[in-house]
Amino acid sequence: MTTATPTGGGAEPAPQTAGPGGARPLAGKVAFIAGASRGIGAAIAETLAGEGATVAVAARSAEPGRVAGTIHQVAERIASAGGHALAVPCDVTEEESIRAAVTTTVAEFGGIDILVANAGVLWLGPVESTPLKRWQLCLDVNLTGVFLVTREVIPHIRARGGGSLIAVTTTGVEMTDRGANAYWVSKAAVERLYLGLAADLRPDNIAVNCLSPSRVVLTEGWKAAGGGDIPAEMVEPPETMGRAAALLAAQDATGITGTIQRSESLLATR
Ligand SMILES: NC(=O)c1ccc[n+]([C@@H]2O[C@H](COP(=O)([O-])OP(=O)(O)OC[C@H]3O[C@@H](n4cnc5c(N)ncnc54)[C@H](OP(=O)(O)O)[C@@H]3O)[C@@H](O)[C@H]2O)c1
Repeated sequence: MTTATPTGGGAEPAPQTAGPGGARPLAGKVAFIAGASRGIGAAIAETLAGEGATVAVAARSAEPGRVAGTIHQVAERIASAGGHALAVPCDVTEEESIRAAVTTTVAEFGGIDILVANAGVLWLGPVESTPLKRWQLCLDVNLTGVFLVTREVIPHIRARGGGSLIAVTTTGVEMTDRGANAYWVSKAAVERLYLGLAADLRPDNIAVNCLSPSRVVLTEGWKAAGGGDIPAEMVEPPETMGRAAALLAAQDATGITGTIQRSESLLATR
């Protein structure tokens, strides 16, 4: 685990935005992003940091592997753009790993205000040809992982007097006319989990929402899973999810809570 130090490398820095009077919307907030070593999670981490949040960049990849992206590279990109980030190794299927990552974040930054439960694996194969281990992996990462990380973070957000929980789901949940697969089933269960949690946590002033891309984001994970050619009009840049997550992250249960949001439609309301 390392605190990122400024470096000259990395991708284009996330813009540092300012609200009315120069205050950045997430200044003073701490965000824990599960599944932030690449793809949508990395984009969300960089956007939230650009809006002033201090960010825990959590995922398993501490060293470069088969798929590009590590927690240290993302934390270093944030630092080189002038933000604050900590790379925290975290496997969302392991209770002890989550506990250690959350404990480290709180020890380093003093608390947590925002969770983005983004870690996910993709398996779109038909039910008849789905091996049990693929089914189980989808449920372990996409559903149980969200349950475990959310359960660990709730007391810390409550201790701050409120905050925001965001789970990343998919429009596939609604596509029942296109059949069934382990991925869509796992995400549907997360939406039920979060809709119910919104009612449970309203008295604690914690907003609880689901957010998905409106269209396909061509991430490392999408490509590695063999995601086919997509017409340009069906593709959305990862930064759109970053901006939509920042909007939900900046508010509490006095604002939007108990909803399932799509990135582009949410941004269109602002
Ligand atoms: N791409 C899309 O169009 C799209 C559409 C709808 C919804 N989504 C959802 O958006 C989220 C991100 O997708 P993506 O396309 O950005 O995928 P990605 O590029 O494959 O990134 C997935 C992230 O999840 C992390 N992860 C996987 N297993 C983990 C585990 N056991 N513990 C901790 N972290 C884990 C990965 O980090 P490590 O491997 O380093 O652990 C990585 O940071 C997913 O929940 C996905 O279902 C994506």
